[in-house]
Parts: sequence; C-alpha cells; structure tokens
Amino acid sequence: PEESGVDANGVLTIGGIPVTELAAQYGTPLHIFDEVGLRRQIRRFVDGLAERWPNSEVLFASKSLPVVGMYRVAKEEGLSVDIAGGGELQLALAAGVDPAKLHFHGNAKSDAELEMALSVGIGAIIVDNEDELDRLERLLTKPQALLLRVIPGVEAETHASQATGGAKSKFGLPMDQALRAIERMNAHPLMEFEGVHLHIGSQILNTRQFAEAVEKISTAGTFATYDVGGGLGVKYTYADEAPTVDAYLDEIVAAAREHLPEGARIMIEPGRSIVARAGVTLYDVLSVKRTGNTFVAVNGGMADMLDVALTDQRFEAVIANRVTEPWTESVQLVGRQCESGDLLVDGAELPAARTGDLVVLATTGAYSYTLANNYNGALRPAIVFVGEGESRLVARRETYEDLLRLHAPAIEAAAAAD
Ligand code: LLP
Repeated sequence: PEESGVDANGVLTIGGIPVTELAAQYGTPLHIFDEVGLRRQIRRFVDGLAERWPNSEVLFASKSLPVVGMYRVAKEEGLSVDIAGGGELQLALAAGVDPAKLHFHGNAKSDAELEMALSVGIGAIIVDNEDELDRLERLLTKPQALLLRVIPGVEAETHASQATGGAKSKFGLPMDQALRAIERMNAHPLMEFEGVHLHIGSQILNTRQFAEAVEKISTAGTFATYDVGGGLGVKYTYADEAPTVDAYLDEIVAAAREHLPEGARIMIEPGRSIVARAGVTLYDVLSVKRTGNTFVAVNGGMADMLDVALTDQRFEAVIANRVTEPWTESVQLVGRQCESGDLLVDGAELPAARTGDLVVLATTGAYSYTLANNYNGALRPAIVFVGEGESRLVARRETYEDLLRLHAPAIEAAAAAD
C-alpha cells in the first residue's frame, strides 16, 4: 500500500498502525486496506479521465471488492458502480449508492434480478444477449437506458481465465449479431439504446491492447456512449512492471480521439487497479516444517485467497513483525485447506519463519474477499480500513454461528430426531 512503512521495532505499518496491533485488535486472517491510498488511486482515475475527456464516467467494477464499506468509498469519491447481479445490487444500495449511478452487467440475468434493478431505477443495463432483450420486452414499463455488450475480438495477453474479449468469449455478441440487437432496441419505445460496451479482460499490462479495443468498438457504429471496460493490470511482484493510471488513460483517450465521435461519452470500469494495491492480508504462522521443502503454514489459504489456484497469481509475502531482517530461505507458503494446490506463494523469500510470526501477503485488495468460500469450514476474514493512525472495521469476521445458520433445517431435524 502507498501508506505503509516500518516502525522502530521492525514491524510493518499500514496507515500508520503496526500490523501487530491490528492482529491483536481484530484477529487474523485479516484484510487490511489503506484507505488514504485507496481514495488517492480513485482520484487518479476520476480526475485523470475528466481532464482528458470531460464527457466521461469512471465506474468501479465492484466484483473486485463487493463490500459495503467499499461501495461507500466509491460513492463518496464520485464513482459510478458496475454491479454483476442481485447480490452486488443489494450491497451497493445498502451503502447508499444512488441507483442511477449503477450499471447492471452479466451474461445471465434472471427476471427477478432485472425486476429488482428496474424497480429501484437502475442507471443502465448492459444487455448481453437477445434472450435478455426478450425478458426486457416483457418487463419494461417505463423508458430504460441500455448499452449492448459486444465482442471486440481482442485476445488479451493475460491468464486464459482472465481474457474476455476474444472471438470465442461467452460475454456479449459478435458485431453482426450486435447490429441486429441494436435495431431491435432502437425499434422499441421503452428501450433507450445509448451505446456499446466491451471488456477485453483483466490484469492486462500492455496498454496497446486497450487502444486496440477502442478502435474495434468504433466499428460497431456511431453512438452516444462507449464503455471500454476495465482490465488495467497492477504490479504484484517486485519483478512486475505495470503501467501507471496516467499512461493507461493517455492510451485510451488518444485512441478515442482518433476513432470515436468527438461528443461521445466514454466510460471505463476499473476494479483491480483501484483496489488491489491498497489491500494486504495478514495471517498467523501456525507451523514451520522443514522436510525437503520448508513449509510455512498459515491460518488461511485457498478458502480466503483462491486466486493462486484460479489464475496462478503471484504475491509477495513478508514476515510482518520482522520486516527488516534479511531473507535467508525460499519457502512454500501454504494454507490450511486440504489440497496440495492450497498454496499462497510458491518460493517466498523470507527470514527463517517461526510459529507466532505474522505474515503479510501484499496486493490482495482485488478478487480475494469476493472469492472467499467455506472450504473445510473456513470462515471469511474480517476487513478493516486504516488511515492516519485510525482503523475501522468494515466487515466483521464470519462466525461458526453464521456457518451453521444456513443449515437450520437439517439442524432442527437432527435435534428433533435425537
Ligand atoms: N468490467 C467487466 C464487465 C468485468 O467483467 C470486469 C472484471 C471488470 C470490468 C473489471 O476488470 P478489472 O479492472 O478488475 O481487471 N477472477 C479473476 C478476475 C476476473 C475479472 C472479472 N471481470 C481473478 O481473480 O483474477
């Protein structure tokens, strides 16, 4: 995080607070967000795009961190919000986000979700397919702004599961079918077709690919709005190089000047690049085992940090209570779930770890909490936001009670039978 440092005892601090203090107060595993750095990063997008292309809007791709505390920050910083389902809609509304600033995405929206979105006055729906148009024809009772997701045919240079704009993508319609869907929307009295949307993928480090996407989307036609999606990659490891927000915006806006109509509204939807670097995850070391490998095992794992198994994500780790000690060992930093793929870092360079140490995994702000699950009965971690020496809990830790709640029917039946 931007607001991190090391105190006189060699302890990592975030937002001015030693992580040992946060561990004592909130327990571990714990997601910690540098709220000052987070808000600064949002301003880089919002101010940066507005300066370059005034008729524009930045949407927070909330799937990267669908947390009420984060929706609130997004609202306060003037972001619009991309939601991908009824659940994210509920979370956004609970934070007080204006429904008019919500954009509803997804390739398989149900009637119930569309009805919920329409009833609260959703800003725009990003239509994915013609079945969705059939649903909307049935459900619309008043005018509704719509965008259409198109397949740009840009193969993003990223992990295969993070590429979404290639010709074979399940998201959106190919250009020829898109034109038919646009005709349909234009012919409908309640469908206010505003323009097109694309998203080529996530963790993209080559900004040329965004320019390519802008060029491709311009071939769909002349519209009021072009949403060019999210996907800007971030620096995860010491070895990574990632573009700055400014370099990314320069590239997109240069392509827009060349290919899009002058008065058009441009939207972008960053998720990862807003939240990833503001967040870290704090774990307790429960065991250190030296067999042929050194296994440093922590009190979390793929249940709260699935991305290593899902996308081979690389993270940097530090022993947070002894940050200044030199690295002496390359270890397998592993979790506690019952899978060999339950790995946090394959080959983490650390000082000799001991039980009782605290490990911080860096750059975990995006796609961690949201992918958390209850594998092996694991409980979702708590989330704290920190800044200027203060901390505040934004999501409490899941409890065994929470875990048992869904099973009330079976628990009641078991109690009655015994
Ligand atoms: N817009 C749309 C329509 C999206 O589907 C996404 C991400 C974004 C924007 C934001 O992209 P970002 O700026 O965060 O790259 N499960 C993967 C990430 C999947 C991203 C899904 N879509 C992972 O854990 O790495």
